[in-house]
Amino acid sequence: MLNGKHILLGVSSSIACYKSAELVRQYVKAGAEVQVVMTENAARLISPLLFEQLSKHHCITDTFERPAEVKVAHISLADWADVFVIAPADANVIAKFAHGIADDMLSTTMLACDCEKIIAPAMNTKMYDNPATQDNLALLARRGFHIMDTAYGELACGVTGAGRMAEPAQIAEYTELLIGYEKDLAGKKILITSGPTREAMDPVRFITNHSTGKMGTAIARAAAARGAETVIVHGVMEAKVPAGVKAVPVTSAQDMYDAVMAEADSTDIFIMAAAVADYRPKTTADQKMKKKDGELTLELARTKDILGTLGADKKEKWFLCGFSMETEHVLENSRKKLEKKNLDLIVANSIKQAGAGFGTDTNIVTMISKDAEDELPIMSKDDVAHKILDRILEMSGPH
Ligand code: CTP
Repeated sequence: MLNGKHILLGVSSSIACYKSAELVRQYVKAGAEVQVVMTENAARLISPLLFEQLSKHHCITDTFERPAEVKVAHISLADWADVFVIAPADANVIAKFAHGIADDMLSTTMLACDCEKIIAPAMNTKMYDNPATQDNLALLARRGFHIMDTAYGELACGVTGAGRMAEPAQIAEYTELLIGYEKDLAGKKILITSGPTREAMDPVRFITNHSTGKMGTAIARAAAARGAETVIVHGVMEAKVPAGVKAVPVTSAQDMYDAVMAEADSTDIFIMAAAVADYRPKTTADQKMKKKDGELTLELARTKDILGTLGADKKEKWFLCGFSMETEHVLENSRKKLEKKNLDLIVANSIKQAGAGFGTDTNIVTMISKDAEDELPIMSKDDVAHKILDRILEMSGPH
């Protein structure tokens, strides 16, 4: 999705600048054109030649350079860019950006830049935690800069703590999210449920299912990339919450019900991909249940149907999309759920088909609405996610 995009990459002086080379590689691989601007100190840590080789563009470090390919360097670079990514951003450049200081090529270009901006901080933990840096980051965030979280871990200075730069793959993913898609869901709030729920028997044991959360997170990634305010209410799942998505982690079906209801009034579109347990142990023991001779009979009680509850008291502005995973009579059973839960759309799949269902990267689905049925071929869960969002946009009309 970055094909043909213009990415301006600012590299400042942090040990993490070696990772910027990998970031350039990933951008170029994704089809983007990359132009690198470095601070002079960064150029002492890592050679501009490396970035020139990777980006196939002259790497600029000084304000007074006039490479043939750029006219007034800082202005034309700023105009050229679709996104300005600063990775790594050290404490010094963050402070300069926050206060409008323009005393080298990187900071001068930043001041002239009105495209999207991503900051990936990297520095020693104490420098990162320092109120001066935190205030500067907060100020930049208020001005619309996208600030990536740092990772917690061992830093080059030997300290273990916050301040490690986000991984190149995460920065590339976030860049794609920001500039790779048409923002056709801007102004909409989408709530997605994802992953399994866990219903506790005692403090040690629970009932759950095989859901990994891959389909739900793919939808969240697609919705955020298309500009929706995106919330994912998710059970304990393998899949990672995508960048730019608000995560509400929950455990049981009741937790998920509460979390969804707390967000419901302000939501426009619900896409319920979670595999919610329909039953829970009737009682949860406070202490670990000890084994006894003979069999154990577990009494189960029904959980609340989250989607069913929304459908029963459906607000005018709501679009309700459910998922239906079946082993037989897939379409027939799914149509029944569409009607019973008062849904606009249901996405049906069979876990019996190879390439569909739990834990796979692909899915085979049929989208069913009151008067249409659309059977899709096997495709990645990311592509399925976009197809679902396309259909929802089509059905909810212009906004
Ligand atoms: N769902 C929900 N709350 C529940 C159970 C299900 O919100 N307690 C949602 C699921 O996230 C899914 C849809 O309802 O989007 C269909 O779920 P499914 O479990 O397949 O259907 P059920 O109505 O529970 O019927 P059955 O278990 O008989 O197939």
